[in-house]
Amino acid sequence: MTKGADRMKIGHIRITDFKGVRKFQMTPAKVNILVGANGTGKSSVLQAIRYGITGNAPSEPIAGGCDKGVVELQFPDIGTLTRTVSSGRNEVRLNGKVTTQKSISELLEKRTGTSSTTAELMTSAEALSNLSSGELSAYLMENNLLAVKVKWEMLLSFCNMTSAGEALLKKLLPGAEINLGDIDQIWNQSKRQRRILKQEIQETSMRMGTKTIPIEESAEQVEDSMKQLLEEQGELQAGVKSYEAAKRERERVQREIREKEAKLGDDLEKPDENMIRQAENEIRRLDQEIINLQGVVTTIKTNGNNMYKILNGLSSDTCPISPKLKCSTDKTSIKAELQTEIDNLMREYTKQKERVTELDRQKNEWYQTKNRLESQMRNYQVRKSLEEQIAYLREHMPEERKMPSAERIKEIAIQIEEMNKKRAAIIQNMTVEEHKLIVEEKKNQLNAYEELVRELDPRKGIRQKILERSLKPLEDYFNLSVRKILPKYKVRLDCSDGFRIELLDGDKVYDASKSASSGERARIWFVLMDLINALSSYRILVFDNTDGMDADALISFLDMLSSPDLQQRYDHIFVSVINYKEVIEYLTQKKEFSVIQIASDQLKEAAAA
Ligand SMILES: Nc1ncnc2c1ncn2[C@@H]1O[C@H](COP(=O)(O)OP(=O)(O)OP(=O)(O)O)[C@@H](O)[C@H]1O
Ligand SMILES: [Mg+2]
Repeated sequence: MTKGADRMKIGHIRITDFKGVRKFQMTPAKVNILVGANGTGKSSVLQAIRYGITGNAPSEPIAGGCDKGVVELQFPDIGTLTRTVSSGRNEVRLNGKVTTQKSISELLEKRTGTSSTTAELMTSAEALSNLSSGELSAYLMENNLLAVKVKWEMLLSFCNMTSAGEALLKKLLPGAEINLGDIDQIWNQSKRQRRILKQEIQETSMRMGTKTIPIEESAEQVEDSMKQLLEEQGELQAGVKSYEAAKRERERVQREIREKEAKLGDDLEKPDENMIRQAENEIRRLDQEIINLQGVVTTIKTNGNNMYKILNGLSSDTCPISPKLKCSTDKTSIKAELQTEIDNLMREYTKQKERVTELDRQKNEWYQTKNRLESQMRNYQVRKSLEEQIAYLREHMPEERKMPSAERIKEIAIQIEEMNKKRAAIIQNMTVEEHKLIVEEKKNQLNAYEELVRELDPRKGIRQKILERSLKPLEDYFNLSVRKILPKYKVRLDCSDGFRIELLDGDKVYDASKSASSGERARIWFVLMDLINALSSYRILVFDNTDGMDADALISFLDMLSSPDLQQRYDHIFVSVINYKEVIEYLTQKKEFSVIQIASDQLKEAAAA
């Protein structure tokens, strides 16, 4: 429990005009006992020392009639610390140089590991006595004097948790060792989380809605049925479409057939093509014959004309061979012959002319026949073509489709609608289920947090159990000291409400702060101060509260101060005692104590001198 030795060794103390002291100086030993009657100035000296160490002045610190009080502490390895208090001002110097209270506190803290508030407590039993039980344990923990740690397994043994609670706690407190601060933090965190989870559960439950219709089929089954129905519906719709398309197409083809039939005309035999060829040949032949005959006619006509000219010549008296010659020959017979010849020619001409007319007539007849046959042929071919087209159309008429059952179509639509409803219901039910799962999960979490809130509640024993575990060694140490100066009592450090000191007198339990006598209380304070000093390694103990003790109690108390443990742990112990006769006698034998006899006159006279 000790840190380095002599860390707070004070070489010399000089006090000037402080409280009831005008001038005082001492070179402190390990144990310093200030002995004097009431009002001699023992407390004044101790208050001055405390002021010197902590910088906390008591009320009305300056000696009456003076304008400042000065306390000087000389530390061998730091130097001289001078504190001066003057009307409301505090000044601190180190080796004559003004410095700050803060830096001095830090310096002392660095050397001693103890803050000035801790020092205040450890030099003032009053400060200790003013702390409530809860404040005391808080103080111990805040100042790290009580390292309250517990092993994970031990913590579990203190709680009554389900595996879920345990798992959560392990997650929140992953270390093997847990301190009380962590537990408090987790407790508060759990309360916060509990509130959040409750709200989330409420919100999720509100969003969750209710199941619509209960569906026995699974989502997959419904999807399957839906798929089948949609397929069938698709087929039916395609059926309706192709039925309608086929119907339209049939109607169109039928219409076309009707139109073609209307154009068909009478049924015709196919004309004899040979007849047409023959007609064509006849026409060609007759044409040739007519051309030939016209040549003949022209020749006859030319011959006739020539003969007629000759005949005319024969009728004149000129020579028919040379019209310049007069001829008186009778030409009658020639004339007659010629006339006959002309007549013959005329007849021939007429005959041939008639023949041409006849041939023309024949040719015309053949033309007519040809035209008639050709027209017949054309009509015949048109009809044939139409007949073929009609036959083709008939042959390729789209088949009559079966109209899908209207009833089935309706039925399918209804079934699909039902499936849609089912599907919607399943989705809705699924979200309800999902939310249910979320709510369940959150409820499980909540339960685990509830458990932590319940089990880690510092008022419900866990804190006490942990504290008790940590305090047990302290309690033992405390009792060891107390036994020496309070043999009748056993002290129990009770942590049910913070930190309570109880006196166990047989079966009776007293709250020490309320029931102990002032003498007993003084001894308890001392042991408590010593305990805190031991925990914090603070090496100066200033104890000014022995007033309530009688001579016997004082002697057993002083006797305890020479225990090797205290001797080792402290650099200085300052104690004030009343100058009882028995005490003086006892002290004269106690060579290891430095006894400072104080008389009020002495302190005041020293000043006057
Ligand atoms: N600021 C002050 N100026 C002058 N005198 C003071 C001042 N403060 C205290 N005194 C007086 O100094 C004297 C010493 O007081 P102190 O409390 O130090 O005595 P004590 O030895 O501790 O007495 P007791 O045994 O009763 O505790 C007292 O008479 C007290 O009234
Ligand atoms: Mg006093």
